[in-house]
Amino acid sequence: MPESADSTRNKKLKQRLEFYEDLGLAPFYRDRTPSSSQSMQSRLSTTMPATSSQTIEEPRLPRLAPQPRPAPSTATPSRSIAPPQSSRPSLFDAANKHSGETLLQIRDDLGECTRCKLHSTRHTIVFGDGNPKAQLIFVGEGPGADEDAQGLPFVGRAGKLLTQMIEAMGLQRRDVYICNVVKCRPPGNRQPEPDEVAACSPFLFRQLDSIKPKVIVCLGATAFQTLPQTNRSISHYRGQWLDYRCYKRLPTYHPAYLLRNPAAKADVWKDLQKVMAELGLEVKKKVK
Ligand code: URA
Repeated sequence: MPESADSTRNKKLKQRLEFYEDLGLAPFYRDRTPSSSQSMQSRLSTTMPATSSQTIEEPRLPRLAPQPRPAPSTATPSRSIAPPQSSRPSLFDAANKHSGETLLQIRDDLGECTRCKLHSTRHTIVFGDGNPKAQLIFVGEGPGADEDAQGLPFVGRAGKLLTQMIEAMGLQRRDVYICNVVKCRPPGNRQPEPDEVAACSPFLFRQLDSIKPKVIVCLGATAFQTLPQTNRSISHYRGQWLDYRCYKRLPTYHPAYLLRNPAAKADVWKDLQKVMAELGLEVKKKVK
């Protein structure tokens, strides 16, 4: 027998109310028992992506017409019954609690790391530096001697060039975030070995997920081949937009390579102009 118009309408109405409840638009029902509230919270915690310390953009919720308050009753109730109260936090308190790790938490977890052999020769762990809400992250290979001494990434000769490149983009170092694949200096500035990259790169991945940048610039082969792991040669992919999970990634030459091959600066500048366009920065024709 075909469904009556009433039953179809009721079904649609029920679905719509459930949808609103999923959005957190309770109280729709008078009965907000802890169990219904709990099911919403647990759904939230499993479906909400982990977010960083960045501000959580609140979903735009449809406006609800204000509900008329019932007139206060003059009759004395025989027994006062408190309305069921959820002891759980509100929807947005909960969302904040479920936000992702901060850089500080990740740094704390790294501790005085001894996870790979680089710890035995380093002076200082070089975790990263810059804006924890940056839209742009530069990822290098690993600290050199200056970085190992100062505990900051890209502060030596290659770092000075990187700073100039950032400034040529119309930005300051404090606008972006800078870090490396490995956080301890490989002795003699050799390339980090696979076991060292394997031990350290999870911290890089967590840094990226904490910051959630729009663009990741991989400086040189080690960064390119770590995000994600690949044996491909950077020279084939330099200057091309690639994806790394939900992030846009652009491999380019490492500033140390540019110090040895200044002619390649023009290619890197072209790459950085692509990044500027992606970030909505004014793309200048020439840099002095
Ligand atoms: N080279 C890198 O890859 N990282 C630094 O921090 C410095 C030099």
